[in-house]
Amino acid sequence: MSEIEHSLETVNLTKNFGGKMVANHINIKFKQGFVSGLIGPNGAGKTTLFNLISGNIKSDYGDVYLGGKKINKMSDFQRARLGIARTWQMNRLFNSLSLIDNLIISQRSDYSDKSLSLGLFDFNRAKKDALYEDIAANLLKRVGLLDYRNSVPAELSYGQQKLVAIARALMNDGNIIMLDEPMAGVEGRTHNKIKEIILEEKTRKKTIIVIEHNMRFIREICDEGIFLVNGQIKAVDSVASLMNDVELTRIYFGG
Ligand SMILES: Nc1ncnc2c1ncn2[C@@H]1O[C@H](COP(=O)(O)OP(=O)(O)O)[C@@H](O)[C@H]1O
Ligand SMILES: [Mg+2]
Repeated sequence: MSEIEHSLETVNLTKNFGGKMVANHINIKFKQGFVSGLIGPNGAGKTTLFNLISGNIKSDYGDVYLGGKKINKMSDFQRARLGIARTWQMNRLFNSLSLIDNLIISQRSDYSDKSLSLGLFDFNRAKKDALYEDIAANLLKRVGLLDYRNSVPAELSYGQQKLVAIARALMNDGNIIMLDEPMAGVEGRTHNKIKEIILEEKTRKKTIIVIEHNMRFIREICDEGIFLVNGQIKAVDSVASLMNDVELTRIYFGG
C-alpha cells in the first residue's frame, strides 16, 4: 500500500467548548510506520483531538484528511470503515457481553451503548457472521485472552480489559490506530503485551498515535513526540528532546 493511502493529516482543526479553545488550529501530519506519542498535561485537548479525527465530535473549523481525502462530513462509523481505529480512555466495553461478542459487535453500524441498552440491537444477526467471529478469535488469541472468550469483562483484570479494547480496535485492520492512555492502570506482563502489539502493528506499516502519561513507555515505544497544550501543538520532536526541554517540562508538571 502506498503512503498516500495511509496518510492522516489535520489542517487548522479547531473546536471550542463553551468559549474554551480545546483544539486551536491544529496542523499535524501523522507518519505511516511511525508511533507518535501525543503528550501534554491533563485538559490539553489530547482526547478531543482523537474525537475530532475519529468523528466522535464535529470540528467547528478545519479539516481532517485521510489518504488526501477530506473526511470531515463522515460519521464515526464511516471513518472506522475507512480504517481509523481507536480505543477509549475508559475502555467502553459492554459489561453484559462476552469478550468475543464485544469484538464482533464493533463491526455493526447500529452498535452503540444506546441501541444496546434499548434492546434495539439485533445481536444475532452480527453473530451469524462467522467471518467476524474468526477475526475476533484470532485477535483474542493474539492478546493472550482466547481462553476467556466467553467471559464477561468484569472477570478480567483492568489491564486485561485494556487488551480487549485494543483487540476490538484491531477488528477492522485499519491503517490508523489511535490509543487513548493504553497503559493507565496497567502493569507487568500486560504492559509488555500492549507494547508488543503496538510494535507488531508498526512493523505492518500502520500509523499509530498513542496518548499516554507513562513517560517510560512513551520513550520506549514512540518514534516522535507531539506536545499539546491548551489545544495547540507546542512542539513535535524526538521524545528525548521533548523531555529535556525545560519549558515543556515546566508546563507538563505545572508551576
Ligand atoms: N464534550 C465536552 N464538552 C465540554 N467540554 C469538554 C468536552 N470534552 C472535553 N472538554 C473539555 O475540553 C478540554 C480538553 O479535554 P480533553 O481533550 O479530554 O483533554 P486531555 O485528553 O488532554 O486530558 C478540557 O477542559 C475538557 O473539560
Ligand atoms: Mg484524555
